[in-house]
Amino acid sequence: MPQTLDATYQNKEYYEQLYRQREDPWDYYSAAEQAKYNRMIEMAKRFQPSPLRVLDAGCSLGCLTEKLADYAPDVYAFDIADSAVQRTQERCDRLTSKTNFHVELGDAVHPNYPNSYFDVIFLGDVIGNLPDEQDQHLAIRNTLALLQPDGVLILTDCMKCYRQKTYVAMVEAMGGQVLERIYHHDRYWIKFRSLVKQFGKPEQIRSLLGNEGVHRAFTRLGSLRGPSGSKHFGLVVKQTASQSA
Ligand SMILES: C[S@@+](CC[C@H](N)C(=O)[O-])C[C@H]1O[C@@H](n2cnc3c(N)ncnc32)[C@H](O)[C@@H]1O
Repeated sequence: MPQTLDATYQNKEYYEQLYRQREDPWDYYSAAEQAKYNRMIEMAKRFQPSPLRVLDAGCSLGCLTEKLADYAPDVYAFDIADSAVQRTQERCDRLTSKTNFHVELGDAVHPNYPNSYFDVIFLGDVIGNLPDEQDQHLAIRNTLALLQPDGVLILTDCMKCYRQKTYVAMVEAMGGQVLERIYHHDRYWIKFRSLVKQFGKPEQIRSLLGNEGVHRAFTRLGSLRGPSGSKHFGLVVKQTASQSA
């Protein structure tokens, strides 16, 4: 083990421990997260209906990766945590799709693929979890460089709504052009989720958080407040013309 741990290495250790302690650390089996994945794919399909190569960067348990079966003939996925890579691989092995899955260890700050390689890249809830601003900048810039000129990056993150403007400015400063913005789940759902987790028993938690109707009801309620009610938002981004030239 290195004497001085760099920030990314510390992050790797942190996620490894999290995956060892908890089966589903962010409720990815929940209705809200499944709805989020479906919307991310819908967004991508509008810009890239039949891509050749797509990438799920920071794939976690592989819940989005598996939904990419049949969207592209080649689906790539990576994560910094070995346990996440293993679980994603197992999930993809169980599928009967003709899609080729390439699942490996990797670092979103320094992704190890050729430039202009992908038609679509999904980078869901990774940037906000990187240890510092410098890594966030590098990750966005280096990820955009992997897109072919018409390719799109589907970026999601969770933050207070007043911080979203700064986030968009950071994406633009790193060479991204924001084509579209959407809101995934709102504050009411997030509040409800933390209450259920605090007071519910594990089986009740699973059934409430996995219930699509409950999620839809909270999302509808939250949508009355518009974008200011949403902490979890998504962007469709392409490289600016000067970056892709
Ligand atoms: C909050 S989860 C998001 C998972 C998934 N992308 C989604 O949208 O549901 C963050 C994931 O990013 C991974 N991660 C954190 N830092 C990373 C890095 N530098 N490179 C690759 N993956 C990283 C973590 O191991 C974890 O699986």
